[in-house]
Amino acid sequence: MKVVVHSKNGTRDFECDPGEKVLHAGLRSDVELPYECATGTCGTCKARLVRGRVESQWPDAPGGRYLKGEAEFLTCQSVAHDDCTLEVGGTLKSCEPGASAPRRLGGVVRALRHLTHDVAAFDVDLDAPLDFAAGQFALLSVPGITGARAYSMVNFEPRASRLSFVVKKKIGGAVSTWLCGDGVEGARLDLFAPLGHATFHPGTPKHLLCIAGGSGIAGMMSILSLAGREGHFSAWDGHVFFGVRSAGDGFFLDELEAFRARAGGRLSVTVALSDTDVPASLSDAYAGFDFARGLVHAVAGERMKGRFADVRAYVAGPPPMVDASLRLLLREARLPPADIRYDKFS
Ligand code: FES
Repeated sequence: MKVVVHSKNGTRDFECDPGEKVLHAGLRSDVELPYECATGTCGTCKARLVRGRVESQWPDAPGGRYLKGEAEFLTCQSVAHDDCTLEVGGTLKSCEPGASAPRRLGGVVRALRHLTHDVAAFDVDLDAPLDFAAGQFALLSVPGITGARAYSMVNFEPRASRLSFVVKKKIGGAVSTWLCGDGVEGARLDLFAPLGHATFHPGTPKHLLCIAGGSGIAGMMSILSLAGREGHFSAWDGHVFFGVRSAGDGFFLDELEAFRARAGGRLSVTVALSDTDVPASLSDAYAGFDFARGLVHAVAGERMKGRFADVRAYVAGPPPMVDASLRLLLREARLPPADIRYDKFS
C-alpha cells in the first residue's frame, strides 16, 4: 500500500506492507516521520488521516490522549488497510548524517544476568549485523506477548552482531517479567532497530552531561563507550549523574569506574541515592566517584551550577525524572533544545 505524507516542509511517500506499522514503514524508507517512544505512550507520532483506512492495533494506547477527533491516529500503533494520505503537524526532519534506517530483524536471547533484585542484563545475538548510533534503542517483541517494548543498547560497535540491554522488572510488566525469568536463554525474539534521536557522534564539540535514572543508564553506557574510545575526553569534559534509590539498586558501577579511569581525569561520575544515605561501604568501594543523597536531577543541577557552557546533555529514565531534568536544562541551565537529547520510556 502506498502512504503519502504531507508536512509543513513537503510531501513524501512510501510503501507499507500489510500488518506493518505506518511509522515503521516510513522510517525504514528514510521518511523521518515524527516519533519519540515508538511504543504508544508519548503521542509524538500522531497524524491526521486525509484519505484511506488505518486501524490501531492498540486502541487504548496512553498516547491516544493527545489525539483530537476520529481522523487522528498514532502511526507507531497503526497499520494501513488501503492506500492512505496523511498529514503530520511538524516538519519531516532529515536523518542524522550517517544514521542507519531501522529495519526488522530477529535474534536469540543470550547471557541473562541479574544485576540487582529488579534489574537484569541480557544480550541478543542478531541474525544479521546492525549499525546503530550510540544512544539509540530497539523495539523488542517477545513470543506470545502483544506489543513491543523499547530498550536502549548498552554496547556500541559498528556492524554489531550482538546487542546488550538492561531491563527493569516491572510489577505486572509481561515483557520484563518474561525477560527476567527462567528459560529465556536461547529464546527467539523480533526487533525493529535502530531508533531514537538521543545519539552521540564522535567529533561533537561539546562537554558531555549524562543524567540517568535507573535503567536509563543503558544508553549512556553506549555513549560513554564510544566517547572514550574516540578520545572525546582528551578535549572535552564528561559528567555522569546516575540516580538510583539505594546502594543496593546500583549497577554498572564497575563499568562506569573503568570509563572514568580511562578518561584522564576529565570524566566525573556522581551517584545519587534518592531514598537512603550513602553508606561508607559504597563510597569506599568507588573512591573515584562522588556520591549524594537526593533526586538525580536536583543533584545534577546543584553540582553543574555555572558549568553548563558548551554542554550537550543526554537524559534517560522514568518519565517524571526526565521531565524534571528537562525543566532544569531548559529553564535553569538555559541549554538550547538542540543540545538536549532524551529518551522517555514508560
Ligand atoms: Fe507513537 Fe510515542 S511515538 S506514541
